[in-house]
Amino acid sequence: MIKITLSKYKDLTKVPKKYTRIVLTEDKPSWHRLVECKDGSLEYRMGAGKRKDADMRSYRTLVRSIVMAAKAHQLEHIAVHLGPMGCPKLEKQGGEWYFRTLAENLSLAAYEFTKYKTKKKDAKEFKEILVCGELTAAEKRSFSAGLIVAEGANTTRDIANTSGVDMTPSKLAGATKSALKGTKASVKILGLNEIKKAKMGLLEAVGKGASDKPKLIVIEYWGAGKPKRDDKRKAPVALIGKGITYDTGGLNVKPAGAMHEMHMDMSGGAAMIGVMRAVAKLGLKKNVVAVVPAAENSISADSMRAGDIATAMSGKTVEILHTDAEGRLVLADAMTYAEKHYAPKVMIDAATLTGASLVALGQHTSALMTKDDKLSNTLTELGEETGDFVWRLPLWDEYKSSLKSTRADITNIAANFSRWGGCIEGGTFLSFFAPKKTPWAHIDIAPRMESIGSDKLAKGAAGEPVRLLVKFVEQS
Ligand code: BES
Ligand code: MN
Ligand code: ZN
Repeated sequence: MIKITLSKYKDLTKVPKKYTRIVLTEDKPSWHRLVECKDGSLEYRMGAGKRKDADMRSYRTLVRSIVMAAKAHQLEHIAVHLGPMGCPKLEKQGGEWYFRTLAENLSLAAYEFTKYKTKKKDAKEFKEILVCGELTAAEKRSFSAGLIVAEGANTTRDIANTSGVDMTPSKLAGATKSALKGTKASVKILGLNEIKKAKMGLLEAVGKGASDKPKLIVIEYWGAGKPKRDDKRKAPVALIGKGITYDTGGLNVKPAGAMHEMHMDMSGGAAMIGVMRAVAKLGLKKNVVAVVPAAENSISADSMRAGDIATAMSGKTVEILHTDAEGRLVLADAMTYAEKHYAPKVMIDAATLTGASLVALGQHTSALMTKDDKLSNTLTELGEETGDFVWRLPLWDEYKSSLKSTRADITNIAANFSRWGGCIEGGTFLSFFAPKKTPWAHIDIAPRMESIGSDKLAKGAAGEPVRLLVKFVEQS
């Protein structure tokens, strides 16, 4: 674990010699020099571009690049002195945003996943980041909050990076309990019998082929006090996360090259676990519940078949035309469960739902679908503020006609097997199970499931959209 602390030193001139001082210049971002000073201390000079041009996006990348440079140069201790001064666009955001973002991105960039590495770490490994500066009390609080949010996202990454064999539904349930141990959030796990009793026929169908049976993971956090019956003011935010612990595609098996990363198909569920951990550790005075339907989409004689018809908890019958469109099935039942048991004031789901979302948007943003313009604007703005970007796609009733089934109420993919608009099709399927009066948004996070080079993060799970959803809860 890399230590990240606020220092008592106001600027870099006073820090002890063991720290390499990170000095930012106005050179191009690719420019850098490692300089040994007369007293033997090191200075790493790094181009950061013109201060007047710095914006929220370039700032996050810069912060992460500092950490990546420290790792690359095997610097054990680094000291940074950053402030929004002289950067008009960052000054406008204010010191609290600035220092929260600093803490979040230092910690996200410091993260490494080493669970399966046997080689002993290098003695000269990266150990510490010291942050100098004169922060107000509010800025210090924001900095600490940023560390907590990033730690939530890093917990999400740990869970998602773990192989399918080590993160089955029952193990995901266990990981949830450990992630929330010692916090004021409570965890309830429904097993197969309870899932059957609750008539969650879609979750049951998806999990049928696996030996580790499905679980419904429910996390409650009553920071504003548990609501009495019908007390709408205290109704919680409901977060639903896809928890497919491994997605083989089922009998409609995925081809080689498209399967090995499907241990990350529980990224939406893992994100909700990370959000709940952060929300609880921040002690937010908000009510939030998270529901994670966990199942392995596996292959055996017991697997659901293409053409099978299953009955959802809502009562709707679904013709499963494609066993690889399983995420929407488990989410549908989880959404019904959340609506029925918690009557939330707003519902948001996050899911690695479709490859088509990557075709539509590339890998820099998740896809957002909602009928609620206000919720859409809020999430889009908070995405800009936090770095977990979302971009809206339509969720019009026109799209519903493609899911008309001959034998059941609806199909789980377009009845004519058309692949056009696959991302919207996923959202449209879920809309049949969304609460009627409560604002609901669907976020297809498949584009942001894993990091890409320009993110300046360790390869693997990206831990999105934890920052976005924590912020959403804070302002809810
Ligand atoms: N988990 C996948 C989607 C996915 C693909 C996530 C690539 C991340 C990266 C999902 O369950 C799936 O298989 N979707 C199908 C839907 C299709 C059968 C309508 C897809 O995208 O091909
Ligand atoms: Mn699938
Ligand atoms: Zn899937």
